[in-house]
Amino acid sequence: MICLRDFLDAPKCTTHQCVQFEPHFGHQNIFILLLLKIIMEFDSVINKRHSARIFKETKKPDYQDIMTAIDCAVKAPNAGNLPCLKYILVSDKKLINELAEACQQDFISKVSYIIVVCTDKKFLEKSYYERADMYTRQQAGAAIENFLLKIVDLGLASCWVGAFSDETVRRILTIPDDIQIEALLPIGYEIEKTEKKMKPSLQSTMYYDGWGITKRTMTPRKMPET
Ligand SMILES: Cc1cc2nc3c(=O)[nH]c(=O)nc-3n(C[C@H](O)[C@H](O)[C@H](O)COP(=O)(O)O)c2cc1C
Repeated sequence: MICLRDFLDAPKCTTHQCVQFEPHFGHQNIFILLLLKIIMEFDSVINKRHSARIFKETKKPDYQDIMTAIDCAVKAPNAGNLPCLKYILVSDKKLINELAEACQQDFISKVSYIIVVCTDKKFLEKSYYERADMYTRQQAGAAIENFLLKIVDLGLASCWVGAFSDETVRRILTIPDDIQIEALLPIGYEIEKTEKKMKPSLQSTMYYDGWGITKRTMTPRKMPET
């Protein structure tokens, strides 16, 4: 007998039951199990992602992994498929220290790479006028989340850093005034797991069919006329 959860290597997954099965069964079942494994791996990346703030100074992430994660960010949705993001890869230790100082967050100085996410809303202004600002920020958020999830998938860790002196980061990296600095993403290997933050319950975040309606009303099913 093999435990399904062991096979799927997802001990924290709560959405699937631990089912016992005989190991000698057909190709079709193996295919279903592999499909389940893919679904559960996705869930496990979502569940594993958290803001990491204690990094191994001695272990440098692979440059190619970082490029893979940026490539995932690039694949996020864009209004009108108009890209407006630029990613500055910072690996110079002097610049990293200066950026940590600009954020007044010392943990940032421990990493070997920081991605600075920037947007240029001019690309969206021609098509979306006054909505361009909102769309630009939303696109940045979608791209950053794609990036953070891929970083977890690659066994790395990061933290979305939004608290920094715009002026100082701009000066350090010679970013023009008309470019928005959205976030800094330090990347490294985590030393010890930061305690997972409590998240709101699904129910407490839901309204149904209108703002403020916390209960879902079931519409009675129409019976066929006789
Ligand atoms: C827009 C934004 C800005 C953030 N800025 C910072 C920051 O400057 N420093 C930091 O340590 N974490 C920052 N965070 C991370 C949050 O503190 C973190 O996401 C939150 O506490 C929830 O924890 P979790 O990411 O582990 O789920 C930021 C997150 C967001 C979305």
